[in-house]
Amino acid sequence: MTDYRAALFDLDGVIVDTAVHHFAAWRQTAAELGFSLADEDEELLKGVGRMDALRIVLGIGGVEVSEDEQQRLAAEKNARYVEAISTITPDEMLPGAREYLVSLRDRGVLTALGSASRNAPMILQRLEITDLFDAIIDGSVVSEAKPNPRVFLAGAEALGAAPADCVVFEDAIAGIQAAHAGGMIAVGIGEPEVLTEADVVIPGLHAAGSLSAQGIEFVGSR
Ligand code: BG6
Ligand code: MG
Repeated sequence: MTDYRAALFDLDGVIVDTAVHHFAAWRQTAAELGFSLADEDEELLKGVGRMDALRIVLGIGGVEVSEDEQQRLAAEKNARYVEAISTITPDEMLPGAREYLVSLRDRGVLTALGSASRNAPMILQRLEITDLFDAIIDGSVVSEAKPNPRVFLAGAEALGAAPADCVVFEDAIAGIQAAHAGGMIAVGIGEPEVLTEADVVIPGLHAAGSLSAQGIEFVGSR
């Protein structure tokens, strides 16, 4: 059994189900360019920053466009995404997410957000959970995309915690790789068959109560 002092959370797909809106917006980009994305392609786009995701989409279609056109396509995708999430409410958080964050904080466990999304602060505000994080690291603070560990290392640093004290909660393969590259343990949120590199996989934060039985225990240090 290991005791951890800090919990670092990805946002999209862990706290709120925005992954579906990201993918729908990229599907429209592909359609505009004359090709389609397969369901399996969604996994490749999770966790990676906006411009990297665009490059992945263009690679799938075998399409090359100018730098200016890349900027336009990314801005257009973001406008569609922002429109899609503009009406989200606290009711749309993934099951157990708010309750788990509150229970960790009640026990004095440090919490940080580590998201590649530049829309993260707006989403936290709409979900009314900004106050549940001691530190917020998003895509506008750190530009290196997961699997680069920078976003989580910056989170740990902001909390004053060592990587070995942190548990990362992630739904993306790139995010799990980022946690490991930063020397942190990774709890996968999703399917064990997909998140094969995670240390432990649970279906969602509603099941986080089972982590202590799997050797992951938090201690308060606030
Ligand atoms: C991540 C998503 O959280 O944020 C990715 O999993 C997305 O799919 C990335 O590409 C960047 O998001 P945004 O909102 O800055 O375009
Ligand atoms: Mg995610």
